[in-house]
Amino acid sequence: MEPAGSTRLGKALVKSGRSVHHLTVEAVDQAAPTPDALRVALSPMTSAPVTLVVAVPPQGPGGASSVDWESHVHGPLRRVFTAVRGLVSAMQEYPRGGSVIMAMPLTALFADQARMGDSVLGRSLVGLAEGLRAELLHTGVPVTILLTESAEDEGTLAHRIDDVIESGPLYALPASISRSDISDVFDTWLGALAETPSDLALPEMGPMGGVYRAEIQRHDHVQSQRGVTNDHAYGGRTGSSISVASSGGIAALTNSVLTAGRTAVVTGGASGIGLGIVQAILERGMNVVIADVREDHIAQALARVDQHKDRVMALRLDVADRAAWRRAATDTYARFGAIDVLCLNAGIGVLGRILQSTPADWSWLMGVNLSGVTNGIEVVLPFMRAQRDGGWVIATSSAGGLMVANDGGIYSAAKFGVVAAMDCLRAELATEGMGVTTLCPAGVNTNIHDHETMRPEEFSDSGVRGSDAELDEQQTRARAMLARATDPMRVGLRVRQAVDENVPVVFTDGGIAPIVRLRRDAIMSAIASGDDWHEPRAASTRPRSRPR
Ligand code: NAI
Repeated sequence: MEPAGSTRLGKALVKSGRSVHHLTVEAVDQAAPTPDALRVALSPMTSAPVTLVVAVPPQGPGGASSVDWESHVHGPLRRVFTAVRGLVSAMQEYPRGGSVIMAMPLTALFADQARMGDSVLGRSLVGLAEGLRAELLHTGVPVTILLTESAEDEGTLAHRIDDVIESGPLYALPASISRSDISDVFDTWLGALAETPSDLALPEMGPMGGVYRAEIQRHDHVQSQRGVTNDHAYGGRTGSSISVASSGGIAALTNSVLTAGRTAVVTGGASGIGLGIVQAILERGMNVVIADVREDHIAQALARVDQHKDRVMALRLDVADRAAWRRAATDTYARFGAIDVLCLNAGIGVLGRILQSTPADWSWLMGVNLSGVTNGIEVVLPFMRAQRDGGWVIATSSAGGLMVANDGGIYSAAKFGVVAAMDCLRAELATEGMGVTTLCPAGVNTNIHDHETMRPEEFSDSGVRGSDAELDEQQTRARAMLARATDPMRVGLRVRQAVDENVPVVFTDGGIAPIVRLRRDAIMSAIASGDDWHEPRAASTRPRSRPR
């Protein structure tokens, strides 16, 4: 979506001898309310297979205080959704087949605190692209995540694009990436998962397992043709414990921030996991602001914590509304004089295929699940930093922040982004004596089954919401499954303990470990063409965060 002749990728495409039809950013933006309008862009093309290349260039360096969330992250993401929704849907109607390439900087995989905007944007795109790959599995149109490095020349890039078009892998990585680089990303998650019991026998979560297995098989096949025996001991260092020792540099914080007299704001704090966190920290004598969009939930929550009412304030807040965030911050300061803990928990657990989703579906889900988090970072974090008194940010992502489950491409786009934002923030805030903990729940017994019924009127033009009868049936099924799931009060206690111990990531169910491991191995299989595939390094010499 950059002028094809002026970018490295555009030049590489031309160099590879292809005829390139360029779609301007303006054309995509104009089609944002009606993605189908983009169909016309395909009509001048021949009957040959089409490769749709969605290229998202770097947005620029900067940490939490300098990201312009709308222009660096939310705008480009919306644009990609529009292009994919309009063009991929249209591609499917032509018998000529084709492929989709989503090209982006390496920060999409290796979150980099010095490039927070690119890290969040990239990771969200990865969630979207993996979801799209699963959706298109049955059509034979492959979706590839092409990660690019600023040092790569056009010739190398052109060569890699040729490879991708020929073989359609899930990931295409630059030659500089090693297995241990990938391990570094997954070790913290897999280590924490290894120590998390599984309460619920989680069902196979949709087609993603098949996507990852196919990638690993493809790699094995190529290797066996080369006469090489495969080893899947990819060297993930398992068992890195959930402890202060694995905390990445801020173990010097000896006292928990969760102490009497301090103040926490908890979004989505009136129900489920949020209420569990509220109760756990009220027990510590803290002041708590319950910020929630639902008045009925707020009333029930206030009744539940009545014994602490002198230290509780409830606010009606739609986390997607930045102006409302400012009012919430002002009201909190007026009542309690500080914000020490910011818990960005509100979210909407609505799934649905990307290619059936409307702009309204996109705006609602991304508005609450990703902007709801970035708004908090933008509006409240500067005050917390200025207090110079420690402080903690907690965000609720999801198991869907590490893998795409059940038609959850858009949900995962948001939740992958939340994980990346928190990874960056944790590294950035460490030097200021502040901490960050990310919660990735799966199967917690909350009101999550009820979320579709909360859809605001302005987003009612949905492509994924079923009929009332279908919704009823879904809710009944979800309620029955969740009745056996983890108690949100227990999750609140786990989060409290995680903050006390400065733990970076908390899971609620270790049952997702096999699919997260499969995903790691599928990404590693993209290294197959690299020379270092059979020379595993003992440990990465590459810093986890590196400027691109
Ligand atoms: P819940 O429905 O019990 O609680 C969510 C609360 O967020 C509700 O009180 C709701 O009114 C509030 N909320 C929704 N939209 C809001 C908005 N725009 N602004 C402010 N508040 C809003 O559901 P649950 O499960 O406790 O959800 C909390 C978080 O956990 C969400 O981010 C969800 O994505 C995440 N999650 C939950 C899982 C589960 O198994 N329950 C699994 C994975 C993630």
